[in-house]
Amino acid sequence: MDSVKVWDLPTRIFHWSLAVLVLFAALSGDDSPEWWLGLHIIAGYAIFALLIWRLVWGFFGPGPSRFGDFVRPPREIVDHLKATLARRGKPWLGHNPAGGAMIVALLITLLLIVVSGVITLGGEENQGVAAAWVPFAVGKAAKEVHEFLVGLLGLLVVGHVGGVILESLLHRENLIRSMIHGRRLAVPEAHPLHPAPARPLSAVLALAALLGGLWWVGSALSAVPSAKIPAHYALDPVYREACGECHWAFHPSLLSRSGWEHLMANLSDHYGENAALPPDKAAVAGAFLQAHAAEAWDTEPARKLNRDGSGLRLTQTPYFRKKHRELNEAAWHHAEVGSPANCPACHLDAESGRFDDQAIRLPKGIQS
Ligand code: HEC
Ligand code: HEC
Repeated sequence: MDSVKVWDLPTRIFHWSLAVLVLFAALSGDDSPEWWLGLHIIAGYAIFALLIWRLVWGFFGPGPSRFGDFVRPPREIVDHLKATLARRGKPWLGHNPAGGAMIVALLITLLLIVVSGVITLGGEENQGVAAAWVPFAVGKAAKEVHEFLVGLLGLLVVGHVGGVILESLLHRENLIRSMIHGRRLAVPEAHPLHPAPARPLSAVLALAALLGGLWWVGSALSAVPSAKIPAHYALDPVYREACGECHWAFHPSLLSRSGWEHLMANLSDHYGENAALPPDKAAVAGAFLQAHAAEAWDTEPARKLNRDGSGLRLTQTPYFRKKHRELNEAAWHHAEVGSPANCPACHLDAESGRFDDQAIRLPKGIQS
């Protein structure tokens, strides 16, 4: 039997690169080491670019690749499924109605995964276009949504692959191979192929316009000043001098107002030291700490370090221990560290209170 060209080269390249990138993104997700996050993000952006491309090609590609060909009304999808169950009905050379619905479900789910990923990244990690304006709590919620959608995508992929295998068996044709070489058996009784030719020039122009628009929106969003950090924050010199004598002058966002109040009221019995200050300095330092305590910030340590209400030292809270569980005892006693309380030894942005992942640098000789 003769074969006909169904899947054009751009659609096939799209299909297989998407499959590889989604697999990679799934493997580089949450449970892998922290530095994989960078790769996961690149995979996410690449998937987004592919989706944009597919969106454009769905309007300007050749017939079988167009949404106009494979997005069918629900009635036709049901009829098709019934006919398939009864093992009758004509074969489709392009996507059958159920397969087309699956493509739409996959594309929408992937798009939502990218969007929820960008919101998570901005809210929780202070990176990307959503860094400045998505609150920490929203980032946390978006992460739940992101993970739920990934589970859903898994089910859809199983359905998609299952459908392809079923069709291959029903019509005795290897459909996985036809997504590689692009051709299918020209069954005479099949539904005719959508005849529209590709319009590559229109596609490239539409793509350029879309990418340009997205770039513009992205840069406008990136330029928004961060709402997580009080706009006019500056380290008070009196506080720095008085409380930076024996250790790093802690960032005020690392303890709550009541935590600082308690600490300032007990300076003469301060972790085995007498850290009492002259009253004027104590007043200035105390006021600075109250004004800029955790409650005034929306950063990860301000939100998490202090919210367990245990009244423990901040370096002994469950959150601190969990985040640093990969460091061994020797790391804390390294010559450049000395104590877990020496945050800036490893966190380059400790003075800003952000404690972003991408600003962690371990002194030479420490492994994590
Ligand atoms: C005379 C030395 C000294 C001075 C001055 C001092 N501290 Fe301390 N501070 C210590 C020691 C010692 C510890 C225990 C550190 C450790 O075990 O690594 C400590 C611990 C802390 C901790 C707990 C850190 C943790 O591990 O959770 C905080 C918070 C703190 N100091 C804040 C302050 C503030 C605020 C001031 C100024 C009002 C101040 N300190 C002044 C000696 C001092
Ligand atoms: C010896 C180096 C070192 C010191 C000192 C240190 N940290 Fe860390 N911290 C790390 C490393 C490494 C990680 C990342 C661990 C991971 O996620 O796998 C981390 C992670 C964190 C995170 C989570 C960041 C995120 O986005 O997930 C916070 C918050 C944090 N540290 C706060 C602190 C504070 C506050 C101090 C001081 C009281 C401190 N750290 C002292 C090495 C250090």
